[in-house]
Amino acid sequence: MPKVTFIAPDGTAFPVEAPTGQTVMESAVQNGVPGIEAECGGACACATCHVYIDEAWEPKTGEPEVMEEDMLDFAYDVQPNSRLSCQIRMNEELDGLVVRVPQRQA
Ligand code: FES
Repeated sequence: MPKVTFIAPDGTAFPVEAPTGQTVMESAVQNGVPGIEAECGGACACATCHVYIDEAWEPKTGEPEVMEEDMLDFAYDVQPNSRLSCQIRMNEELDGLVVRVPQRQA
């Protein structure tokens, strides 16, 4: 099964299993990863599932859609590699994905 590693702001790694078809946000919530609040439940309407994509993985996760871009405006400390984790759906290609959790959510 594909895996995702969430890195907390203090450097703690949270490796979790993330089944194909599930979003990165869902895998975080199901495994109790701290810092991923996901208040809207994945509707791209809250920006509290904000993560930073590890540089090496940016080509595979791709660019945010327009709706996600708009919602990212509400996220805290947005960087060029910012994404909303509810908008990234797992597939075999993303096995090993590494994302960083921001200091705080919106
Ligand atoms: Fe609300 Fe991702 S969970 S935008």
